[in-house]
Amino acid sequence: TSTLRPAVRQRRPPSAFPVVDGALQPAHLHVYQANLHNSGVCQQRYLKYQEQAMMGGGENATTRHTQRNKKLLVRDRLRMLLDDEDYLELSPFAGLDLDYGSIPSAGCLTGIGKINGLWCVFIANNATVKGGTAYPITVKKQLRAQDVAMQNRLPCVYLVDSGGAFLPLQSEIFPDKNHGGRTFYNEAIMSAMKIPQVAVVCGSCTAGGAYVPTMAEEAVIVHKIGTIFLGGPPLVKAATGEEVSPEDLGGARVHAEVSGCVDHFAPLERDAYEHARNIISTLNFELPADENEAVEEPLHSVEDLKGLAPRSYNHSLDVRMIVSRLTDGSRFQEFKARYGTTLVTGFGKIEGHLVGIVASNGELTYEASLKGSHFVQLCDQRDVPIIFLQNTAPKPAMTPSQHKAEAHSNRLKAQSSMMAAVACASTPRITVVIGGCHGADSYAMCGRSFDPNFLFLWPNARVSLVAPGCSDALVEEEHDVTHLKKKLEEESSAFFSSARLWDDGVILPQDTRKVLNKCLKIIKQQEYQLSKERLRAPLLRM
Ligand code: COA
Repeated sequence: TSTLRPAVRQRRPPSAFPVVDGALQPAHLHVYQANLHNSGVCQQRYLKYQEQAMMGGGENATTRHTQRNKKLLVRDRLRMLLDDEDYLELSPFAGLDLDYGSIPSAGCLTGIGKINGLWCVFIANNATVKGGTAYPITVKKQLRAQDVAMQNRLPCVYLVDSGGAFLPLQSEIFPDKNHGGRTFYNEAIMSAMKIPQVAVVCGSCTAGGAYVPTMAEEAVIVHKIGTIFLGGPPLVKAATGEEVSPEDLGGARVHAEVSGCVDHFAPLERDAYEHARNIISTLNFELPADENEAVEEPLHSVEDLKGLAPRSYNHSLDVRMIVSRLTDGSRFQEFKARYGTTLVTGFGKIEGHLVGIVASNGELTYEASLKGSHFVQLCDQRDVPIIFLQNTAPKPAMTPSQHKAEAHSNRLKAQSSMMAAVACASTPRITVVIGGCHGADSYAMCGRSFDPNFLFLWPNARVSLVAPGCSDALVEEEHDVTHLKKKLEEESSAFFSSARLWDDGVILPQDTRKVLNKCLKIIKQQEYQLSKERLRAPLLRM
């Protein structure tokens, strides 16, 4: 068909972008040291959260899950489903320390891993966390994973093991547009978009959960472990007085032999993951050719990024030093280097992928915004993915004089154009918040509401409308100032953000190059889907 591409892909033209100067000067040392110390503290917190997330529902629930319920743990399931453990987990800290409690990993693991060489989104309930029931944050996490699948056109695999809605919070899960029902709506839209979906029923699929496998394109169920019903045996007993076992009410035999709700019967769990892997092999994708091009490492160690990650806005060093630790060979073809210098723009390669880089290097001024719009449009025209390195100013611009007011109005207009250019760019965009994510500048730097394909935070990142300490002028009472400052301090941490799913996860600065490489490979896969020509109207409804 017309979408078939030649088996041998053309090589990219060679590039010898200039090496950017990223050397650390003696004058930078005290700032570097302060940042390094702060990064050490942040990394400790990161490790603590990681441990909490890995514990799932705790020891008792884990024993109940494996011994009494004879089920595999969610990470063992993923090990059987995926080719390797080199997957990109999304928002592992979601759900920690929320007002309604700590829900490790929001009760479900989501991410992107390879199945028979193909990147697939996975959404896997963790039934050790309150029987895998859906809290509001669980719903949000599942919807975000489906968004990732849609935006990057990735097949999606659901491992379903869930007691349905977490009933005490039902009002926050059930009725609204982006609540539980949206999962099923998305499944239909994804099918119409030709995004393949496979479900493995490896536990309960109760109530709403029952629709996940039934709306998927192919479903597998595990004998004696998987069940699908709208109301379980206790409900049947209450309604009719009849005693019925889960297996007879909605077990693997019933659904594989009588109802036809599932398509494949797996005697054991491990067979189910084999089925799922085989189904993925039937999708009409080709695999990208192995690119054996030698990749240059950056000239400086990625470990230096810990000392470049600003502990506060005042501790930001020239962002080219960060760029020089992310790009291949520390090479960077800078664009408009002498104009609007508070924004650094240019082309570089990350593990061989050509990218445009838009990096904050101070306030987003009038000139910087014009430059930003121009560069984003260039990338869009050339179909080059854009990496935003975001570190926006903590304070809104004040207008103490008429002259300044004019300057600010001009800047407002220029920022609006940049926001429009970023919003309308159809090329993939990835945002990494390397410092501050504050105020309107953060929109132009492709914040969450501007729909980047992925958005990650460094652990030192701060996310708030205005930074703590910059809000004093807005509040009169001293008590209120202290209170507001404390609240802002807590609420602006990267971990607070990630717990609420305002991003796709906190990543360590030294891992950024690896993570970006993975994302760029994932994004590219859509070029290899052969069965995509019949795109239909639902796309327009998104
Ligand atoms: N809402 C709130 N809490 C729930 C829940 C729900 N829908 N389903 C389970 N839980 C809680 C249990 O109370 C228990 O809490 P605890 O650990 O604090 O005691 C925990 O989740 C685990 O449940 P448990 O029944 O002990 O585990 P299990 O592995 O034997 O069974 C289920 C898991 C999901 C099969 C079973 O709990 C169940 O059938 N739940 C009800 C499902 C339902 O009817 N949902 C309708 C929602 S609309």
